[in-house]
Amino acid sequence: MPVKEFRTPITDKPILIGTESGYDNIIFAIESSCDETAAAIVKNGREVLSNVVASQIKTHIEFGGVVPEVAAREHLEAINLVIAQAFEQANLKPEDITAFAATVGPGLVGSLLVGMNAGKALAVANDKPFIGVNHLNAHVCANYLNTNLEPPFVALLVSGGHTQIIEVKNWLEQRIIGETIDDAVGEAYDKVARLIGLPYPGGVNLDKLAQTGNPFAYKLPEAKLQNEFDFSFSGLKTASLQLIQRLKKENEELPKADIAASFQENVSSTLLKKVKKAVDNINASTIVLAGGVAANSEIRKKFFNLQNEGYKIYAPEMKYCTDNASMIASSAYFLANTMDSFSIEVFSRM
Ligand code: KG4
Ligand code: ZN
Repeated sequence: MPVKEFRTPITDKPILIGTESGYDNIIFAIESSCDETAAAIVKNGREVLSNVVASQIKTHIEFGGVVPEVAAREHLEAINLVIAQAFEQANLKPEDITAFAATVGPGLVGSLLVGMNAGKALAVANDKPFIGVNHLNAHVCANYLNTNLEPPFVALLVSGGHTQIIEVKNWLEQRIIGETIDDAVGEAYDKVARLIGLPYPGGVNLDKLAQTGNPFAYKLPEAKLQNEFDFSFSGLKTASLQLIQRLKKENEELPKADIAASFQENVSSTLLKKVKKAVDNINASTIVLAGGVAANSEIRKKFFNLQNEGYKIYAPEMKYCTDNASMIASSAYFLANTMDSFSIEVFSRM
């Protein structure tokens, strides 16, 4: 079980963080890596005392996607209000907080800077430790919120930028079993959504449309790879484009729902097949879904069906699948890949 000593910035007092600290850890966290400005307060890594998210969707709809400079400016405008609301919702004051945390990467650098500097400023002003958090680990930690989940387990991390099968051996140790060699699942969803003509944010809109279509209308290809646990979605994207171009010529109206359903069937069955094989391969039995795409209806359905075969399945509540700050606080507490120095800087890629 993890515990780690952090130091306060002004008086250099030692503060223990983690399950073995011997007292309640109330962690205030900020997330600003992409297009949500979020703050949350979480007790002992699991109990959410407040969770505030300001989404930039309305702004980015206009541009059909996230424009980094626009995103950073929006974070700047929202951050103080979001922080104030997080304290208010939890009915807590800065002096009640054990440590302040913020995402330091990977993500959009300008956006990350806003959240990280707000987190550091709060920590200095209140003489509390600052904990820098890796966004990817935090997505996995979203599964600790309001559950009793403990490692070991196998995680499928599917977000806008990443697709990985991860063996989480214990609180601190992980191994990547497989990952995408090109597009991330969320990226493929967003691109194909755009090809069909769906508005931003593409993934969730494609998911909704797919539920009204025939998943077996069109057969799309699956990549064959050297490491059977790796993924590739660029071929699927090209095949989807070619299918859409052909259907546009043949039809007056594009059968959008059938294309969306066929794409979703292809992606969800590939994810299921590979993760199941990876899990069987290491004799594991618990599977954890993580990342924005873990909100997908068909992926959730297929994986939760594995419960009938004796697997234990976890997926975060919908609001903790996409970017939020509660998962950042949980990751800070369970110490997965955290960075504790005030000199830590933001980073865009792993
Ligand atoms: O984890 P996340 O909020 O941000 C990143 O860290 O990337 O994931 C965002 C991604 C986007 O690509 C979005 O389209 C996708 O998750 N997404 C979905 C769904 N909800 C969000 N993809 C498919 N089905 C959904 N229901
Ligand atoms: Zn994310």
